[in-house]
Amino acid sequence: MTISIHPITPKFAGEVAGIDLRRPISAEDAAAIEAGMDRYAVLVFHDQRIDDDQQIAFTRNFGEIENARGGNITKDHERRLKQGMNDVSNLDQNGQPLDRNDRRRMFNLGNRLWHSDSSYRAIPAKFSLLSARTVVPRGGNTEFADMRAAYDALDSEMRTLVADLICEHSLIYSRGSMGFTELTEEERAMFKPVRQRLVRTHPVTGRKSLFLSSHIGAIVGWPIPEARDLIRDLIEHATQREFVYSHAWKQYDFVMWDNRQTMHRVRRFDESQPRDMRRTTVAGNAMTAEQVAA
Ligand SMILES: [Fe+2]
Repeated sequence: MTISIHPITPKFAGEVAGIDLRRPISAEDAAAIEAGMDRYAVLVFHDQRIDDDQQIAFTRNFGEIENARGGNITKDHERRLKQGMNDVSNLDQNGQPLDRNDRRRMFNLGNRLWHSDSSYRAIPAKFSLLSARTVVPRGGNTEFADMRAAYDALDSEMRTLVADLICEHSLIYSRGSMGFTELTEEERAMFKPVRQRLVRTHPVTGRKSLFLSSHIGAIVGWPIPEARDLIRDLIEHATQREFVYSHAWKQYDFVMWDNRQTMHRVRRFDESQPRDMRRTTVAGNAMTAEQVAA
């Protein structure tokens, strides 16, 4: 089999054919996929009936698996999946859809906001890889926005304004913006804001992109309302339809994206239906800005 990648839109998102993710892949195929990620930022694979171990093994082709600690309010005894897997389903540890008022569900509703995975970590994530094990009949699309195209479309005045800005990211801000503020002291400490550059440069292609996320709650040195006004404006700009690819899930679809170059969000669906989505995450390897000492 020879791997091939075809663009879904002219410059953003590609569809990969000619690979079976159940088996170990060659170094050449891994390099071709990584090059495809650098170019398209989102890659879609269809009909990949993988299990968790196969997903983890494939993920390791692109770097270390990110330590999931500090990214959720789900407690260890409530986990449905093994270490290394991020559970982005709507299910509890017994495989049943979470109750409407379950705090885990309310927290996870934050995934409906535009974000970049783990932008609230001092070292933010490189890639996310998502396997659709059970899909819902309607809704639940994942939308991706191209943050390179969004940067390229800024006028020169705005490029100058954002060039050196540092933002503070935290799950406290994204959840707080949805009215979910009931966090314990321990959770607040775990979700302490981190600093990220607003403009990033891709380490391989050298392309600049906007590092936006609903986890942003402040810009260093700016009054908070002014910061949030600018961030809202930029997110609105960056998520115009021309920059967005919307993925309608079929069972066993597998989608990977580069969190350094994209934002994404999940759309509404009927939550009485099981939606079993399993993510693995490739850790990043560098901070984008200096952190405040603890
Ligand atoms: Fe996400």
